[in-house]
Amino acid sequence: MSAGIESIVVLTGAGISAESGIDTFRDAGGLWEQHSIYDVATPEGFARDPDLVLRFYDERRAGLARVEPNAAHIALARLEAEFAGELLLVTQNVDDLHERGGSRNVCHMHGELKSALCTSCGTRSRWETTMIDRPACPVCRAPTLRPDVVWFGEMPYQMQRIEEALARCDLFVSVGTSGAVYPAAGFVAQAKAMGAQTLELNLEPSEGTAIFHEARHGPASQLVPEWTRALLNVS
Ligand code: OAD
Repeated sequence: MSAGIESIVVLTGAGISAESGIDTFRDAGGLWEQHSIYDVATPEGFARDPDLVLRFYDERRAGLARVEPNAAHIALARLEAEFAGELLLVTQNVDDLHERGGSRNVCHMHGELKSALCTSCGTRSRWETTMIDRPACPVCRAPTLRPDVVWFGEMPYQMQRIEEALARCDLFVSVGTSGAVYPAAGFVAQAKAMGAQTLELNLEPSEGTAIFHEARHGPASQLVPEWTRALLNVS
């Protein structure tokens, strides 16, 4: 699948971070079995019980200190460094494991745990600590920070950049995502309609698996390095 490939879009989801110890959303025991989406991942839930929501994301942010990137994150960073063509790495994940694996240019379409969004002035600021204590926005000083995470009913980040990359890529690769949440779940069909080859790398068939030209099933820590090594023609 590597001949003539000049532009690649890779989409990652929670499955790429599962082997690092971060819970996925929809697998058995996943986050959406432990918590209600409506309580912790909607603007309405935040308005109803901000403490619950701030504590939920504070805990997840603190949890990042206990996990490390795995071979799949590291393989994608190597791909970014060594692939001669264009690569856009789009992640639905709010963790920082791609960056800690060495990727420089990551498009976090669902936001980031280590970012705060001020609901007063709209500024997005790097954020490493907690929000439950209502810290001041570093720019406008209002105590109105929320997690900079895209909730259901909100618009994902950088959609124009992603759609332009999907339209011109030769290869679209989806890693560790169930294909249950739009717009990301629609990227494979968009790329395919514009002529791209499409490859799924997932533990099991995703909801969209039949749309892909090729699907390989197994753990990301194995499948992703195998794929990147073959593409880069290295051992
Ligand atoms: P899901 O939990 O829906 O799906 C995770 C996928 O990863 C499943 O298809 C698993 O089979 C697969 N998987 C699990 N372990 C794996 C492994 N070791 N290697 C490869 N694949 C593995 O997570 P997402 O698809 O990322 O949005 O969820 C998409 C969005 O739904 C999230 O970004 C989040 C959530 O609600 C928001 O919060 C806005």
